[in-house]
Amino acid sequence: MAFNNIYKGKKVLVTGNTGFKGSWLSTWLLTLGAETYGFSKDIPTTPSIFETLSLAGRMHHRFGDIRDKEALDSYIQQVKPDFIFHLAAQAIVSTSYADPFDTLTTNVTGTASVLESIRNISWPCTCVLITSDKAYDNVEWIWGYREMDALGGKDVYSGSKGAAELVIKSYWHSFIKAMPRIKLGIARAGNVIGGGDWAKDRIVVDCVKAFSRQEAVEIRSPRSTRPWQHVLEPLSGYLTLGQYLYEEKTGNGEAYNFGPRAEQTKTVFELVRDLAAQWGLNPEQIVRITGNVPFEEATLLKLNCDKALSYLNWHSTLHYEQCVTMIAQWYKAFYLEKTDLYDLTVRQIDSYLKEAEKQQLAWTK
Ligand SMILES: NC(=O)c1ccc[n+]([C@@H]2O[C@H](COP(=O)([O-])OP(=O)(O)OC[C@H]3O[C@@H](n4cnc5c(N)ncnc54)[C@H](O)[C@@H]3O)[C@@H](O)[C@H]2O)c1
Repeated sequence: MAFNNIYKGKKVLVTGNTGFKGSWLSTWLLTLGAETYGFSKDIPTTPSIFETLSLAGRMHHRFGDIRDKEALDSYIQQVKPDFIFHLAAQAIVSTSYADPFDTLTTNVTGTASVLESIRNISWPCTCVLITSDKAYDNVEWIWGYREMDALGGKDVYSGSKGAAELVIKSYWHSFIKAMPRIKLGIARAGNVIGGGDWAKDRIVVDCVKAFSRQEAVEIRSPRSTRPWQHVLEPLSGYLTLGQYLYEEKTGNGEAYNFGPRAEQTKTVFELVRDLAAQWGLNPEQIVRITGNVPFEEATLLKLNCDKALSYLNWHSTLHYEQCVTMIAQWYKAFYLEKTDLYDLTVRQIDSYLKEAEKQQLAWTK
């Protein structure tokens, strides 16, 4: 059992269910016994985790654009979900440089469209809206950002996530806080890594594609550091936030950060080296450093997760080494061993739960 069994038998709608995080979240919800629904525009990558896990046959799903207010609203009215996890977004920083307008309309107008549908809900419903750590105005300081810090963003992707937060805040104060049947929370997490991501310009994806062809991987900024965290870490946070809102154990209408342990901050080179070693490759031969930076990315942005610890009893579970091992295991199963990836994904969720149980995290009960 986990999350006090509240998801069992409930209708849960995941927007962005065909994407990387949405597919992991849908799989976890299926293992929790939820009746799982999805709403997404497309299958964003080839290969895709959604297809690899055969999720189309395991959950209910509709293709549609969240900016199409009527289509989204009619699906929500038809499903009548008990929970909504809103993940659908244009989530790739490099794409936001290529098509800033599409990024803004998807992430800002799309979020407004979800909120419009929430306004039309007449049954009890708990909504967790996913933005990003990039929603914070990154002033390049060394401290972790707290939920009360200023929002903003110098690049369009970050700006779109900051703007989505402002839209959520204004809908909350203008309409939703007066709706007693609606519980709403905002979740901010940073870069995640894990098996099944095939999005472009993400370092793990570049590595596993190259390693599977025995080719060298090109890395742009080997010394840049990122607070790497496994995809299951923020997902356990989102599900905990959903549970606590549903049980009325935490503040309604508030934002929470979900970040990794401080020591998870490693350089790009260290991550590539450790993944290569898991693949049985010599990193000296498999890495090519180009120094070519095609677009500006914000420097290190750390999250302060004291609020999640205090109010949700949540902290991250995995050490960096465990995270790298899980990722290598997943992609090796895909590229080399051709084993049942749904089965492996469920086993990884289960071992993550067992690890969290050892640390006596409240959500594991
Ligand atoms: N992956 C990360 O490292 C990371 C970090 C912080 C925040 N996030 C946020 O988490 C969420 C999920 O990210 P991901 O990495 O799984 O993204 P992804 O690119 O893998 O998936 C995006 C999903 O959104 C759907 N989508 C995109 N535009 C849509 C539209 N207009 N209408 C309906 N559906 C649409 C896609 O079909 C897909 O299902 C996003 O909100 C993202 O901004 C991701």
